[in-house]
Amino acid sequence: MSLFRTKSIEASIAETTEEEYLLKKNLTALDLTVFGIGVIIGAGIFTLTGRAAANYAGPAIVISFAVAALACGLAALCYAEFASTVPVSGSAYTFSYATLGEIVAWIIGWDLLLEMMLGASVVAQGWSQYFVTFLKHIGITFPESVAPGATFDLAAFLLIMVITALIAYGIKESMRVNLVFVAIKLFIVMFVIVMGLRFINTANYSPFIPPAHATEATSGTLKAPLVQLLFGLNPTTYGWGGILAGASLVFFAYIGFDVVATTAEEARNPQRDLPIGIIGSLIICTILYIAVSLVITGMVHYDQINPKAALASAFESVGQSWAATLISAGAVAGLFTVVMTLMIGSTRVIFAMCRDWLLPASWGKTSPRTGTPVRITLALGLIVALVASLTPIGELEEMVNIGTLSAFVLVCCAVPVLRKRRPDLERSFKVPGSPVLPYLAAITSFYLMLNLPLETWIRFLVWMAIGFVIYFAYSRKHSRLHVMGEAATPSEHIGNPAVGGRYDAHGSTRQD
Ligand code: ALA
Repeated sequence: MSLFRTKSIEASIAETTEEEYLLKKNLTALDLTVFGIGVIIGAGIFTLTGRAAANYAGPAIVISFAVAALACGLAALCYAEFASTVPVSGSAYTFSYATLGEIVAWIIGWDLLLEMMLGASVVAQGWSQYFVTFLKHIGITFPESVAPGATFDLAAFLLIMVITALIAYGIKESMRVNLVFVAIKLFIVMFVIVMGLRFINTANYSPFIPPAHATEATSGTLKAPLVQLLFGLNPTTYGWGGILAGASLVFFAYIGFDVVATTAEEARNPQRDLPIGIIGSLIICTILYIAVSLVITGMVHYDQINPKAALASAFESVGQSWAATLISAGAVAGLFTVVMTLMIGSTRVIFAMCRDWLLPASWGKTSPRTGTPVRITLALGLIVALVASLTPIGELEEMVNIGTLSAFVLVCCAVPVLRKRRPDLERSFKVPGSPVLPYLAAITSFYLMLNLPLETWIRFLVWMAIGFVIYFAYSRKHSRLHVMGEAATPSEHIGNPAVGGRYDAHGSTRQD
């Protein structure tokens, strides 16, 4: 049973009230909503819309966006309940450690790393694409030999290095930068909608749901959605199958509302404000996405959409190059914050795992000067930079999606479990209709997983296998719960040499 040992919620919460690691509780509901929009709007809407419309769903990509929003909305309710009950950093990883047990927490932590580290690499490549496009618009030619698509993507590498330096230096400033960039992003997205409306040609909406047929996107078994293979259907795109496959792809555009939960310890009134931040940012982005996808597929016929830089190209195609320049500049600013926040998120997850000794505790040490986990940040920065600049990872959004969706499935299932085990806990936000709705949320997320291509599943299973090897070879034996027993509470072990010091205000271990 030790695989399913749980860390008590009281122990998790106790950690957050220790003098040494009190976080400043400054964030309001508005801050949290802005934070959410900052992570959510990024490569998904700026690049994926085009690819998903061109390859999977045609103008019906609008329906794909609505389906993905529904899955996210249901999961968001579950995240909101958890965040309002267990307002502790670490998001889904911490929630599941308290409910479903250590092995599930490990799986979720491992999934979240896939989501955030790979997400950062993927968005970095999207950024590099838009950066080079922007330079071209202002008359600067980026050297072909190190441009996106070449063996070494210099811009993506430099981006990650700059971000790594910034987040190792401190995150307070980055949150201010976030606010400015979110404003720029929102302006650009609104601009696309308002300007684009004038160039809509309703003939482009026909056929709204193109008839299903096999395309390059489904050529070969590996590329076909798993669900079609399972039920022995001929792999096709477009039609309703294409809409669902499109939904599984554009799901990427919504990733980020769950990252709001990682700021739980910094919220002024987490019980009330976290649900507002999580659900509020999701609603705003859903409305914007549906409007943008309607506009883009109305401006350009779906088979003419440029899958690499759909928004900018749509305006170029109607002779508005200046607007394309503006959009590229907005994407450069907007995608920067997504990469930055995903990298902060992944360092927090690794840190939380170090704090529980599932990974070597000393890795989580923070620098007393910057108050950030410098070791983790630098190591992670280097890995992400190499992956983003040297591998053709730019089209691996689906791999990010499967990591996130699997975390959603487990979090949604954990809601009724915690309700049953700990009915006494105060829940300021409750998912209505539990347990039906949380299970429905889990099924919806799982169904989207099934609509991902077989090759994504294979990659995912390889990733999970690596995770299990690490867990059984190292984490299980070194886990703080295993070493200290159920009685271990953080306050008793602050300064324990075994963990390399005590915890600091950012929830990191610090060398005394
Ligand atoms: N939702 C984020 C994006 O679209 C990850 O870039």
